Amino acid sequence: MKAGKIRMDKALKSVLDWWEAAGVDVPDVTLTAPKRKAKPRAAPAQNPKNSAPVSRPAAAKPVIDAAPIAAKAKTLSDLKSAMDSFDAGVLSGAARQCVFARGNPEADLMVIGEAPGRDEDIAGKPFVGRAGQLLDKMLASIGLTEEEFYITNIVTWRPPKDRNPSPEEIEMCRPFLNRHIELMKPKVLLILGGVSLSALTGTTGIMKNRGQWQTINIGTGDIPALPIYHPAFLLRQPALKKDAWRDLLALRERLQAP
Ligand code: URA
Repeated sequence: MKAGKIRMDKALKSVLDWWEAAGVDVPDVTLTAPKRKAKPRAAPAQNPKNSAPVSRPAAAKPVIDAAPIAAKAKTLSDLKSAMDSFDAGVLSGAARQCVFARGNPEADLMVIGEAPGRDEDIAGKPFVGRAGQLLDKMLASIGLTEEEFYITNIVTWRPPKDRNPSPEEIEMCRPFLNRHIELMKPKVLLILGGVSLSALTGTTGIMKNRGQWQTINIGTGDIPALPIYHPAFLLRQPALKKDAWRDLLALRERLQAP
């Protein structure tokens, strides 16, 4: 390809990835790679001793089941220690550290984002970059300081290249997330963006579901949960802040209810 030429399939994919990361429902577009002439297939490698094909190394290391580890945690601090030393395969292999939480564990409100990014991976705390600063401002606009909320993510290791966590990674982390919610015992959950919405409720579509109260039950009783736009999305779409403001008012009302 000549310098300066734009590959439209790559450009479209990166736009779709960005929108999806921001929590928008993107159409399921199959991108076709440009056709190339088929290369003749190489014969499988042979073991010179017995002429049997040489076995390949295992593709992926099996990941440990997090459920019994999470179940053993009796406190948030136990859970953090368990997660800090957990082998989350590709995720913990590529990230600097497990990004556990920030805020007040005694708060009524638990905020759940998607996964840490670069700033969070460095700081070891969720939502400390630009999206986090906006999130703090949004919560401050309804009178909530860091003393009144607690934030974590669905996946607590920064995914390589800041891609979305895969469904398998979300499932791997789910026992930790559920135990985190059980131990924190929030009165209300705030769900940030489409990836978190679908991981927590199985419902897809942040555009149509934002502002619609959901109920989460992980075995400890019903917890009301409000999905809102992800702050990273609002940074790109400031015109939608008015919807977010309406949702924040509904959140404040619910938090103030007896
Ligand atoms: N986006 C998220 O979903 N989580 C973070 O911690 C930071 C950005």
